[in-house]
Amino acid sequence: MKITIIGSGYVGLVSGACFAELGHDVICLDINPKVIAQLKIAKAPFFEPDLNRLIEKNILKKRLKFTTSYFTGCKNNIFFICVDTPDDGAGSPDLKNLNSVLATLKDKIKKDAVLVLKSTLPIGTNKSIAESMDKHFLSKNINIDVCSNPEFLKEGSAVNDFMHPDRIILGTPNKFSKLLLTEIYKPLKLPSNSFFYMSVESAELTKYASNTFLATKISFMNEVAQIAEKTGANIHEVRAGMGADKRIGSHFLYAGLGFGGSCFQKDMKALISFEKKSKIKNSIIAEALKINQNQVKLFLNKIKSNAGPNLKNKSFIIWGLSFKPNTDDIRDSIAIELIKLLSPNVKQLYLFDPKVTSDSLSCLNQYKNIQFLNTKYENFSSAHGLIICTEWDDFVSPKIQELQKLKDRIIFDGRNILDSEILKENNLSYIGIGI
Ligand code: UDX
Repeated sequence: MKITIIGSGYVGLVSGACFAELGHDVICLDINPKVIAQLKIAKAPFFEPDLNRLIEKNILKKRLKFTTSYFTGCKNNIFFICVDTPDDGAGSPDLKNLNSVLATLKDKIKKDAVLVLKSTLPIGTNKSIAESMDKHFLSKNINIDVCSNPEFLKEGSAVNDFMHPDRIILGTPNKFSKLLLTEIYKPLKLPSNSFFYMSVESAELTKYASNTFLATKISFMNEVAQIAEKTGANIHEVRAGMGADKRIGSHFLYAGLGFGGSCFQKDMKALISFEKKSKIKNSIIAEALKINQNQVKLFLNKIKSNAGPNLKNKSFIIWGLSFKPNTDDIRDSIAIELIKLLSPNVKQLYLFDPKVTSDSLSCLNQYKNIQFLNTKYENFSSAHGLIICTEWDDFVSPKIQELQKLKDRIIFDGRNILDSEILKENNLSYIGIGI
């Protein structure tokens, strides 16, 4: 089928490349000419495993095209809208990008069309978009179906998540759009019970509820980790014991510095804001967000109380800058937050990340005691300790002889990824979270 993706960012570009891989004829539209110019030569503006390969392959197969032109984009009549809806700073999603797209589509669409909203939207947005479209196109005798098809892609595994989804959520207003969207996903060859058909409001809430539940699981474990530290329990053992219960599951039970990224906090704030407006008093979500926001301060206190006296004269290696592994995305990265808090309290910080490059760290320009490293064992003999902020596989089994070069032989593991027993056997001090 012929599909136009509007918004070639983390969600739109992955969706477009994967739809093309499934055999559809895809136009990816974005208003940023620099992004489109790079995409035309198969260069994605961000790192995502396997994405550039898919883009290159499908450009060659002429199933994937890129444009800044709505004239071109509107040659199709199936539109997946994937523009970002960032936090507006007051806890609600900023819909300016979405509204701009809708205004342009009202002007450019000349035939019946299906709009599929992949962007995460406040509950009720789909309905108001449908009403606005009906009002605008009624006199033109054009029918616009507005559907909700939220995505559950995790950065760092987005292509795999798209090709192997746990489920497809389809909020559709009628049988035609339900069958059309089912047909679009058919090449994934999913079992029929992978498709969940529901109202657009339920689809919008499913997305928010899923994200905030996952985030709440993480905050719950970070709270349990605090109890573990007070009782001599080991959070690794507790997690294993809990996760074996199929009702709990073993995923998203990892205590650590907490969740970063552009989605969880934004979506939690959106639901909290909705609850306040709707006079819903109890909010587990608000407490889970508070726990997460406090996590970096708890870890900073661990560093201050375990790094010994004269912290101001000490230097540290920081491993991990991205908000999670297998991405170069530093949006809402807790590592960056920790660096900003730590910098005024120490002599020097040396930063290393397998994917994040120094030119994406302008947010740290004002901190003068920061040096970016190109290889992970640089400057170990100049530093007093190592601080791990992101759970990159590359960090899981560090060379003991390198760690022993650290002046104070101390490791602060913000993601609990190292084996504390091996480190202690080698006269290294280990500080984890809940351990
Ligand atoms: C999330 C949702 O998982 C995804 O379904 C949605 O579409 C977008 O938002 P993402 O933000 O890319 O995906 O990353 P995710 O893998 O969910 O991790 C989010 C954060 O939680 C990361 O900072 C990660 O380090 C942290 N995390 C994850 C934990 O602290 N503990 C865990 O057990 C799991």
